[in-house]
Amino acid sequence: MCTKVLSQKGVGLRKRIKEMLARKNVRDDFDWNRYSTEYQEQLEEIARVHTEVLTAGDYVFQNDRLQLRRDILPLHPNHQLLYETVLQMNPSSAMEIGCGSGDHLHNLGLLDPSIDLYGVDRSAEQIRLLHKRHPGIAANVVRMDATVVQGARTVCDLAFTQAVIMHIQTKTHHLVALENLFRCARRHVVLMENWTRHAFMDDIRGLFEGGRIPWSDLHFHYRASETDAATRIMVLSAMDLADYPTLTDYDTLLAHSEG
Ligand SMILES: C[S@@+](CC[C@H](N)C(=O)[O-])C[C@H]1O[C@@H](n2cnc3c(N)ncnc32)[C@H](O)[C@@H]1O
Repeated sequence: MCTKVLSQKGVGLRKRIKEMLARKNVRDDFDWNRYSTEYQEQLEEIARVHTEVLTAGDYVFQNDRLQLRRDILPLHPNHQLLYETVLQMNPSSAMEIGCGSGDHLHNLGLLDPSIDLYGVDRSAEQIRLLHKRHPGIAANVVRMDATVVQGARTVCDLAFTQAVIMHIQTKTHHLVALENLFRCARRHVVLMENWTRHAFMDDIRGLFEGGRIPWSDLHFHYRASETDAATRIMVLSAMDLADYPTLTDYDTLLAHSEG
């Protein structure tokens, strides 16, 4: 009996060591526990040429377009296309996975205060930064690792990411992150990612066919930025979006990706 317990323990330990060794080869693009300093430097860099944090009246969403109304640096084309697309979907609630500085949650809240906003990030440091940049932000932000299969979760009309899944480099992890994203969304998922980093379309189709996306139907669409034709966003929808081009060929995104 005693031997059996010990040998079972031995098997468990060997299995854990094997898993740990396997994980040595598993690397995201960054060590997220140390990432915040580098990220803040990137934010400073971008702030030289783009407005990152909007104030009331800088932009208005009118006739389905986000329009600049002040003499300020324009938004980054990725961010402009992201906000415009989210606003066109007219969600009552939206969730950002990997919300980092919280700029997108802040800006969306300013552009449409009627949206209930939620954010998650795996890094405590990033969430501290978010509250420093946006004290009293009107969004419910919690710490969560999107690569871990989640039990109870908040479900919103729409969920989105900007530059998150592209940095998650293990196949199983980035698939779980995509699955969680869909499980947080009732109607739409909006992805602003680097399309060369994963075969996003195949991966999402595979998740759907494997029953890991809780929608009865899945439609692939995309939009191109009107200020920068190379910038393209993927829109996944539980229903067909007649006003949006259908994404049939992944190359439509790849041909324009910065790489
Ligand atoms: C490149 S930053 C982008 C942040 C923000 N979306 C933006 O556009 O500024 C990636 C963010 O995703 C977060 N992140 C990375 N892996 C994650 C995971 N597995 N679950 C939740 N957040 C994650 C990081 O902590 C970081 O804040």
